[in-house]
Amino acid sequence: MTDNRAKNPAWAGKPDKVLESPQETDSRQVLGKWAGLAHVFDEIGSTMDEARSLAKKGAPHLSLVVANRQTKGRGRLARAWESCEGGLYFTLVTRPALPVSRAHLVLFSASCSLCRVLREKYGVDASVKWPNDLLADGKKISGMLSELAADGERVSHLNLGIGLNVNNDPTKANPQSTSLRLLLGKTFEPLLVLKDFLDEFEKALASIEDGHVMNRWKALSQTLGREVTISTTTETYSGIAQDVDEDGALILILKDGRVQKVIHGDCFHAEKANES
Ligand code: BTN
Repeated sequence: MTDNRAKNPAWAGKPDKVLESPQETDSRQVLGKWAGLAHVFDEIGSTMDEARSLAKKGAPHLSLVVANRQTKGRGRLARAWESCEGGLYFTLVTRPALPVSRAHLVLFSASCSLCRVLREKYGVDASVKWPNDLLADGKKISGMLSELAADGERVSHLNLGIGLNVNNDPTKANPQSTSLRLLLGKTFEPLLVLKDFLDEFEKALASIEDGHVMNRWKALSQTLGREVTISTTTETYSGIAQDVDEDGALILILKDGRVQKVIHGDCFHAEKANES
């Protein structure tokens, strides 16, 4: 695990809260085999920025930047991501052997992996929401951000930034959100959830080209079959989410019966008829 005090201005003049404390030993033990690739920060601006700089310097596949807190956490579509202590905030540098046109498979695989971990290891009623959110009991528990660099047609690196609400209470920023603690009434070690995710995601990456990633995503989806509104930078569409194609695009049946394919956008689920 990298000692980031020397190179990161975030540590300047601050007491070391992680790296010389008993927690540091714990971090290494909790992360197990992933500790060697981990850059652990107590506080950072955004794990995305540090991961980008590591990737540009040639950091290997599955290098990891994780922080207890972010002061400039970023969400999709230029929004802020509230990143107080208690949540899990990390960016994973991936170097998949994929053409850029297939890079979305890494994101959809990561969503499936985290969803399975929450279901199988934590007993949470988790599902995936297009494009890469995770819901638990119908509320947002995790979001994902990505940055890609290409070398010609191939992916050079694809950085995956994931925020998961673990012990924090995100409901002030977003009433339609939740955390593991709010759902299950107890606290969890965020780094243990991270290790569980990495173990699962490593397996998922091994089968990323088996042609079933999107089918696996569909099986965990809350979006398909639902009435949704999609807001893009220029348009808003409402209709039934019929399918997700092999490119990860959402296929909508609009109210007038036309078929609309959407590649990027914010997705809002309408309440189901039997929901309160
Ligand atoms: C979303 O808007 O749903 C995506 C949120 C992504 C947040 C994570 S937290 C770790 C990484 N660092 C950031 O600044 N953002 C991502």
